[in-house]
Order: sequence, then structure tokens, then C-alpha cells
Amino acid sequence: MSSHVSLTRHLIEEQRAGRINADLRQLIAVVARACTSISIAVGKGALGGVLGDAGTGNVQGEAQKKLDVISNEILLEANAWGGHLAACASEEMEHCHPIPDAYPRGNYLLLFDPLDGSSNIDVNVSVGTIFSVLRCPEGVAAPGDEDFLQPGTAQVAAGYCIYGPQTTLVLTFGHGTHAFTLDREQGAFLLTREAIRIPEETKEFAINMSNQRHWEAPMQDYVRDLLSGKEGPRGKDFNMRWVASMVADVHRILTRGGIFIYPWDRKDPSKAGKLRLMYEANPMSFLVEQAGGAATNGRARIMDIAPAELHQRVPVFLGSRAEVEAATRYHLDHD
Ligand code: AHG
Repeated sequence: MSSHVSLTRHLIEEQRAGRINADLRQLIAVVARACTSISIAVGKGALGGVLGDAGTGNVQGEAQKKLDVISNEILLEANAWGGHLAACASEEMEHCHPIPDAYPRGNYLLLFDPLDGSSNIDVNVSVGTIFSVLRCPEGVAAPGDEDFLQPGTAQVAAGYCIYGPQTTLVLTFGHGTHAFTLDREQGAFLLTREAIRIPEETKEFAINMSNQRHWEAPMQDYVRDLLSGKEGPRGKDFNMRWVASMVADVHRILTRGGIFIYPWDRKDPSKAGKLRLMYEANPMSFLVEQAGGAATNGRARIMDIAPAELHQRVPVFLGSRAEVEAATRYHLDHD
């Protein structure tokens, strides 16, 4: 018998402590089961015929991988009949997906990026599922896209599941961030890191440097100072990592600290950045803040942003608190 606490037991204990209700407990258990299925599909790779392009595009105009489509279907199917949800919204679908009339509707809204970092699937590098849970506004029987437009501070739960050498579910209900590793023999997630704390300071940054020439002036200044090392104004040598899977980069930061940045760049006249507020930035910000880190759009806290649309994009600066504050200061001082 493993000495680790199972996710099932953790959820029941959270319910007993009055931090979640039975519906939210069951909703997260269903999401975890769906992630186990996605992990199995990802793990089969070429043997399961799941690699490569699906031959379709998503609402963002991005080419979909077969596993993007499979993961989206697994999450939709698993969450349709439980009775805990009023509707789902997915990065892969233009509009939200109400729970079919054949099933009872619950009081929660689930948002997910079914397979983040999917350009990494075919090269056998970590990918993941990111999710966020909101309350359905009171009195709304059939939620529409507008009912999802709540700030990150309204999230009641958020998490991701990383499919890497290990499959690990990282979860918060607003009372700390905890990690559960999938025991593949038991088919159960087991608590392996409780109350994660991100180191305040770091010497490691994650950014796609190939976009450097497109960044705005304060971003150029900030990274120039990081790269100037011990002799520069920051007074230390920085290391760089970039997996190009946000889940993998955030997982590393939750493990040993660091700063992850996807800034706005001049290729995008809307100044919005690449990552999606509702499916990526808000849930990751919630997890990082609950682990003692910080998350801004370079100027203001991400979780305070009032969303205007479901697929809104946002610049993201998150990770070790002191470093996120330093990067944010470069932008504020410049304005
Ligand atoms: P996708 O899911 O389309 O592969 O995008 C991944 C996201 C995010 O996970 C990652 O941090 C970032 O895009 C990588 O962007 P670059 O391609 O610019 O490296």
C-alpha cells in the first residue's frame, strides 16, 4: 500500500473542511479521470495512431493536432453527464458548449485548453491540459459565452495535468497549490507535493528569444539586463530555459522557481500577446499565486483583468515573486 494520500481522499478532506462542496469535488474527480484518459492516449504515440495533424483549424486559426481533437472530445464527453456543470468552454471551440438537455445541469462552468503545447507532441516532449472552474452566474439556466467573462479572481479551482516522464496533476482551490502524481499501476493520482512554494528569487528565465527584435522597449531593456550577468545592473548570471509548452515551463517554475514570460510583440498590433487569458493565463496565475509567486501582464495583475471575450489573449509574466515584480517595474517605469 502506498503511504501517499490519494486525490480522492484529498478531495473528500477538502469537502469535510468546508473548502469545497460535493459538486466541485466530483467535478474535479471527473476532470482528473479525463486527464488519465488523455495521458494514456498521449503515451501511446505512434502506436495509437494519434500523432500528426488533424487536418482542421481551431478558432484561433491554428492547425489542430489529432491529439488536440481527441483530448477535447475526452474532456467534453467526461464532463457531459455528471450533473455538476452548466457549460464548458474550450480553447479549441469558438463558442461555449452547454451541457446537453439529456443531462442535469449544475452550477459550475469549466474552461480548458485540452492539450497545451501541442506542437511538442510529435517530438515526444511534455504537453498538458490546463483547466479553470468558475461559478455559473445565478439565475442563468442556459449559459452563453458572456457568462464565462469573469476575472481570474472569480475562479473556484484551477489546475493542469502535465504529460511528461510522469503524469502530474497540479491543483488549487485557493488554499495552496498541490501536486498529485499518477500511479499508473493503480490508475490513481497520489499527493506528492503539498503546499508548493515557489522561491521568491531566481536566476532562471523562460522566454522565446527569437521574438526579441519585435519586443517593446522595456522588454528589450529587461532581458538585456538579465543577459549582462554579474557585471550588469541585476548583479547575477541568469540561465535560460524554453520548452515551448507552458505547462512544462510552469511546472519547472513550481519546482525550482524562475520567471516565464510571453510578452506582447510588434507582430501583433493588438498588443495582446500569444497566450489566452481564460484557458492559460488565469488558471496558471491562480496556481502560481497560491504557491507564493506572482503573475502580471507586464503592468497589472492578470487575475484582476475583466475579460471582454472568451478567446482574449494577454501578455504573461509569471513565477518567482521578486523577479516578476522586477520585470513589471521595467514596464511601469517606462510608461
Ligand atoms: P501550442 O499549444 O499551439 O503549441 O502553443 C503553446 C503555447 C504555450 O504552451 C507555449 O508557452 C507557447 O505557446 C510557445 O510559443 P512559441 O511557439 O512562440 O515558442
